Amino acid sequence: MTDATTPRHVAIIMDGNGRWAKKRHLPRAMGHREGGEAVRRTVRACEKLGVECLTLYAFSSENWKRDEEEISDLMNLMRRFIEANLDDMVEQQVKLRIIGDYKAFQPDIVERLEHALDKTSGGQRTLAVALNYGSQQEIARAAAKAAAAGEVSVESIAANLDTADLPPLDLLIRTSGEVRLSNFLLWQSAYAEMIFTDVLWPDFDEGHLRAALEEFARRERRYGGR
Ligand code: IPE
Ligand code: IPE
Ligand code: MG
Repeated sequence: MTDATTPRHVAIIMDGNGRWAKKRHLPRAMGHREGGEAVRRTVRACEKLGVECLTLYAFSSENWKRDEEEISDLMNLMRRFIEANLDDMVEQQVKLRIIGDYKAFQPDIVERLEHALDKTSGGQRTLAVALNYGSQQEIARAAAKAAAAGEVSVESIAANLDTADLPPLDLLIRTSGEVRLSNFLLWQSAYAEMIFTDVLWPDFDEGHLRAALEEFARRERRYGGR
């Protein structure tokens, strides 16, 4: 269905794993695990629906405030997720990208991530994962680099963002009913369309993505013109 109304770049704030688990009287970790399944479905759906770049908010720079057990569950999930999905990603021509300061993770995770970056580098479509990501920190880093190079401007800051080589953000989706950005892609969202849905992330599927793309196609983007 790729045409002029298909967004090139979709980003998703994958929220609601904890509430999904709570509703079922399950531990939060189960919500995160099912969230991993939703990631698999969504990557496939993007391929099917012709979305060239998908950016997923997986761990924010503020998520370190969670308790140790939950953080350790999330890290283990990340280890398992890479192991279980790397071959599929290569086969599906998905190129992994990471935005955020992922080098702050434990060394074995950094190693696994870098191995995955390397193995998927030939892919055609992009899956960018935001890990230990905070948009304000990203903008501050980019502005500092731009200043060090002697020119601070919209263009020079944009060129130093973690997303510099990704297509412009067209559509931002947040699940779970919260209507806020939680320090995600603040700069990149300047003219992105936004969709907030009550669906909890572990329930998100191709039908929900399709509905969001249909809604996007009905929007009129004006970028300040008339
Ligand atoms: C999103 O689900 C996953 C991460 C932030 C890692 P939450 O864990 O925030 O789920 P809720 O918001 O508590 O339901
Ligand atoms: C945003 O969700 C971060 C991710 C989805 C990874 P949070 O659950 O951390 O956001 P707040 O705390 O509700 O704003
Ligand atoms: Mg949340």
